[in-house]
Amino acid sequence: MLIAITRAVSPAIVNCELSFIDRKPIDLGTAQEQHHAYEKLLDKLGARVISLPAEPDLPDSMFVEDPAMVLDELAVILPLGTETRRREAPSLAQALAKFRKLEYVSLPGTLEGGDILRIGRKLFVGLTKRSNAEGIRQLATILLPHNYEVIAVPVTGCLHLKSAVTHLSGNTLLANRAWFATTPLAGHEWIDVDSAEPHAANALALGGTIIFPASFPRTRARIEARGFQVTPVNISELQKAESGLTCSSLIFANTDSARS
Ligand code: GLY
Repeated sequence: MLIAITRAVSPAIVNCELSFIDRKPIDLGTAQEQHHAYEKLLDKLGARVISLPAEPDLPDSMFVEDPAMVLDELAVILPLGTETRRREAPSLAQALAKFRKLEYVSLPGTLEGGDILRIGRKLFVGLTKRSNAEGIRQLATILLPHNYEVIAVPVTGCLHLKSAVTHLSGNTLLANRAWFATTPLAGHEWIDVDSAEPHAANALALGGTIIFPASFPRTRARIEARGFQVTPVNISELQKAESGLTCSSLIFANTDSARS
């Protein structure tokens, strides 16, 4: 059974952090409707959705992927790279403690889950404005006994590593290769985003389909042309908060043995 932890959209989302896009007005009701549709889709695709209550004072708190990372063996709670978001972690840690033993990365290390791309036993971690070398070093130390390899990937031009590259299945990555150093990921098959859709590299593979923003039809055609089934979802209002698709959930297997 898969668990998907999500969090309701904060009424403060209009004051969200923005790094690489300009601010546009966000309609709260539309953002909430789109997030609810996303949660329903995760449920339909086989995940048990645990929707945490909104945090009225924490604008970006629906992006539950960033303050934590979950593996079969443990969950790691992360100090976010932007001070305004650090208070998102405690309530998420409380929810994750029901499923996993917790470990912590500490300041001056910073790390955000949007920068962590897991492919099997390898974790590619973006070096970005949000995630620094000390955070990556601490993560590697925590994961060493669990036989994971942590590999740093310099990123430019976007918020997180997973804004620029995500894993579709097997050896195939969807990417905007202009935004990160590709050498650490050499040997993979690439699907490049359409040049008119630079933000289209963040897709979520779940339940035999690729969940993908409805706003990127040209890249969708490229993914389908490579044999993948795509499920479009409208996140237009959430994209104004620099949202992708992976950042709004933490999805993991419910392995009770992991807490022992
Ligand atoms: N608005 C998402 C972030 O900047 O963290």
